[in-house]
Amino acid sequence: MRILVAGGAGFIGSHVVDRLVELGHEVAALDDLSTGQREFIHRDARLFEADITDRDAVEACLTEWKPEVVDHHAAQIDVRHLLPRLDYTVLRYPNVYGPRQNPHGEEGVNAIFIGLMLHGKQPRIFGTGEQLPRAGEVQRIYLDATRAERVLGWRPRTPFPDGLAKTIAWSRAAGV
Ligand SMILES: NC(=O)c1ccc[n+]([C@@H]2O[C@H](COP(=O)([O-])OP(=O)(O)OC[C@H]3O[C@@H](n4cnc5c(N)ncnc54)[C@H](O)[C@@H]3O)[C@@H](O)[C@H]2O)c1
Repeated sequence: MRILVAGGAGFIGSHVVDRLVELGHEVAALDDLSTGQREFIHRDARLFEADITDRDAVEACLTEWKPEVVDHHAAQIDVRHLLPRLDYTVLRYPNVYGPRQNPHGEEGVNAIFIGLMLHGKQPRIFGTGEQLPRAGEVQRIYLDATRAERVLGWRPRTPFPDGLAKTIAWSRAAGV
């Protein structure tokens, strides 16, 4: 096969290149040599010296090399380079519900149940109804906003029955 190894001049990528060449594949490395070294690249492999974020350069490489497989190992591996410029907050949404939620999606039990019930259909509850997920999903999930209130001063303002009523009203009006 013709294989392109992005990051093929790096620690891991260069070993991958070596093995692929040993196995008889035609191999090229795509690497900007920012941390990788030209000498690491197997002599039977070709080097495309380019930045993977340079679209034109990557397209030119793909057009010329025509790889059947791209094996991607190129990365800035020092995570400390991201962090100082990125002040981030991660929000872990629980079962968000309300007007505008798609009733045909995989997520959103309220919207899905409302959508079905408005059409006179019965929602399907998997298993006995006692367990919390299906196979492949988390076994148990307990949601608690106590920490959000303590740390962020946030607490839900809409009681669940009111939110449900609003969601049903919207779903009816939207004809979902
Ligand atoms: N080494 C580890 O212990 C380890 C552990 C977990 C994950 N990884 C991941 O494995 C991958 C390879 O890691 P490594 O240890 O071989 O690192 P490395 O720095 O030796 O290799 C990365 C290669 O990518 C190249 N590169 C970086 N930015 C590039 C860009 N914009 N365009 C083109 N090439 C670029 C570098 O020049 C280098 O050759 C990375 O994705 C890394 O996050 C490594």
